[in-house]
Amino acid sequence: MKKLLYRCQSCGYLSPQWLGRCPTCGEWGSFKPEEPTVAETRAQAQAQARVELEPLPLGEISLEEANRWPTGLGELDRLLGGGVIAGSVILLGGEPGVGKSTLMLQVADRLARAHGPVLYVCGEESPAQVKLRAARLRLEAERELLVLPEQHLELIERAVRELRPKALVVDSIQTVLPAGEKVSEPGSTRAVGVATFALAQLARELELPIFLVGHITKSGEFAGPKAIEHLVDVVLYLEGTQGQGEGGDLRLLRATKNRYGSCEEVGVFRMGECGLEEVANPSQLFTQRSSPQPKPGSVIVPSLEGSRPILVEVQALVSSGGPALGYPQRRATGLDYNRVVLLLAVIEKRLGLHIGSDDVYLNVAGGLTLREPAADLGVVAAVVSSFRDQPVPYDTVIVGEVSLSGEVRPVRRLKERLAEASRLGYRQAVIPQNQLQDERGLELGMELHPAGDIEEAMATLF
Ligand code: TYD
Ligand code: MG
Repeated sequence: MKKLLYRCQSCGYLSPQWLGRCPTCGEWGSFKPEEPTVAETRAQAQAQARVELEPLPLGEISLEEANRWPTGLGELDRLLGGGVIAGSVILLGGEPGVGKSTLMLQVADRLARAHGPVLYVCGEESPAQVKLRAARLRLEAERELLVLPEQHLELIERAVRELRPKALVVDSIQTVLPAGEKVSEPGSTRAVGVATFALAQLARELELPIFLVGHITKSGEFAGPKAIEHLVDVVLYLEGTQGQGEGGDLRLLRATKNRYGSCEEVGVFRMGECGLEEVANPSQLFTQRSSPQPKPGSVIVPSLEGSRPILVEVQALVSSGGPALGYPQRRATGLDYNRVVLLLAVIEKRLGLHIGSDDVYLNVAGGLTLREPAADLGVVAAVVSSFRDQPVPYDTVIVGEVSLSGEVRPVRRLKERLAEASRLGYRQAVIPQNQLQDERGLELGMELHPAGDIEEAMATLF
């Protein structure tokens, strides 16, 4: 007799028993019994068979990381901890048009050249469209890159079993239709959940790395959402930056879940005429300034994106002379708004600067978002610099967390940040008190100005 399974009607999560509350999406009373599909029955049978197996003592488990294949795209490999692992499932999310298909085709091409046939299932585009993109990208793996326009899960599974490719790309998971689903409903939460579950099984069984492309909506959710994040090993998001001009074609790749590497890394690409190119030196890109003279309100902050130091330009504009619109405007692009408001209050109170009724605009150049408090002191300096109309010296970087009392607090990995600044030719740094010994500065070829509070830091700068 077939055993019943219970599925959360809200997110598609599957459970062998009825649950009052879904552990994935938190919905109450959403579980309904359902007949298992073929793939699920097989999974259940396998699960039962496994009970009789001997568990391994931890000490006897081999650490041999069987197959980790570099994709050849350094920025992606770093995120993946060195490369893709056979049998793993990687979900690549992003808004439509950001470049997911482009990235996947580039990866497929490289894997195909290095390891043999790669199957690229295109459910959204015709093979001709894929071919056009490949031509634009000047890809080389003509023979080893197999394109299959298919939406039915069972047929995709069959193709994989017959062709035995070295890797599989499914573009996109929202177009995959499991058996028994209504043709009108690919991309429903249920269909996406079932398809991902089945493909993940296939990945493990055949030791096949699988890339799934997933669309997300503007609010940042996968359209067939949470239900699949727990089924895959790595979740990557490709984001476009907000910037125009120089930064407008930048793409950031972030991991939000990573069984094989860190979630802290970020990959930086630029969308060019021939697809996504790696940006090996993002600091240079984010701090490019057009004028040879320093401008008031511009400050270079050595920030950390994950474990990677990247220099970023923070810009402030304080327009005094009363608010233009009756009440003072506060805008922050690329910075946490609440943090900015708090820092403005600290500036007002601790430095005695009357900016309460001025309009204040803050921006991070290149469209990056700074998420760490280590940028605080840079924000303070940018605001003060604009307010006084006095530039910060061109060769200076500023870093430190600022407390409510105006103290400058230590930041993590100061040495790496300063090393990056030094590499790019910066010669002075305002840093938290006592965080680095003087010899360090000499070693880096930089003059360090430790500051205990923001008053001291501003006195050094202006
Ligand atoms: P695409 O990979 O189709 O996006 P997604 O799969 O995420 O929807 O990329 C779409 C955009 O990228 C499109 O506007 C054209 C641009 N593009 C380039 O700028 N250069 C290129 O070499 C390619 C292939 C695309
Ligand atoms: Mg696409």
